[in-house]
Amino acid sequence: MAAATTKLLLSDLASTVKSVPSNYIRPISDRPNLTEVQISDGSIPLVDLQVLNGPSRLDIIKQIGQACQHDGFFQDYMHEWPSNPPSFRYNYVRGLVLRLPEAISESKHGQHMALNYCPPCPQPDLTYGLPGHTDPNLITVLLQDDVPGLQVLRNGKWLPVSPIPNTFIVNIGDQMQVLSNDLYKSVLHRALVNCDKERISIPRFYCPSPDAVIAPAKDLIDERHLAFYKNFTYAEYYQKFWNRGLAAEGCLDLFEVSTA
Ligand code: OGA
Ligand code: NI
Repeated sequence: MAAATTKLLLSDLASTVKSVPSNYIRPISDRPNLTEVQISDGSIPLVDLQVLNGPSRLDIIKQIGQACQHDGFFQDYMHEWPSNPPSFRYNYVRGLVLRLPEAISESKHGQHMALNYCPPCPQPDLTYGLPGHTDPNLITVLLQDDVPGLQVLRNGKWLPVSPIPNTFIVNIGDQMQVLSNDLYKSVLHRALVNCDKERISIPRFYCPSPDAVIAPAKDLIDERHLAFYKNFTYAEYYQKFWNRGLAAEGCLDLFEVSTA
């Protein structure tokens, strides 16, 4: 056993510390401000994608459109729960995303997955699991466990998204906001830490291929509806996003058509 080289995992640290390690403490101006969080103003919409191809298709499409415009987020309830969850989830999520906008099913696309782990934290008001950001990709499908933490900005206030068992969260990313010329919103969201429990969430990010040219959809643009964004490739966007660093909330503004 090479004890000297053994590194503490974050989860080991979590069981012993009584206060947040100083490198995790956020400056006062950039803390979760938990008293400002909305206690109740409804929740993000629950949409039943299972019946998308049934007789209520038009109604479901309308619900999706409204959710994408107003919240940038919605939840989808999984009806069946499989004997083989990982592959089922993979296929389910893949199928779900391909059924969503035609823009995705018709384009080459990429995807990557993350696993976010936040240990219990004695002082959740001093730090974040993930600070406020928008997702740079096209669309994100998130599986969260039963520990609350995700919050979505609505009308200038943070709205907690309480976990509902067997439910996926779907949110619009920056590329979808561009394609829709700002009709659909890539909404700021963040994840808080919890003082009693660890929290795990698994986002799957669906992306255009790097060489895909992204621009507001032609059908949405005419003399009265000008494009708010320049054309760019996803590779250019992604590079700007990472160059800007994770401290920034997003980088859509760098691709706006200048009005000057
Ligand atoms: C993300 C994200 C939210 C969460 O990974 O981009 O927003 O609840 N995650 O972990
Ligand atoms: Ni995100």
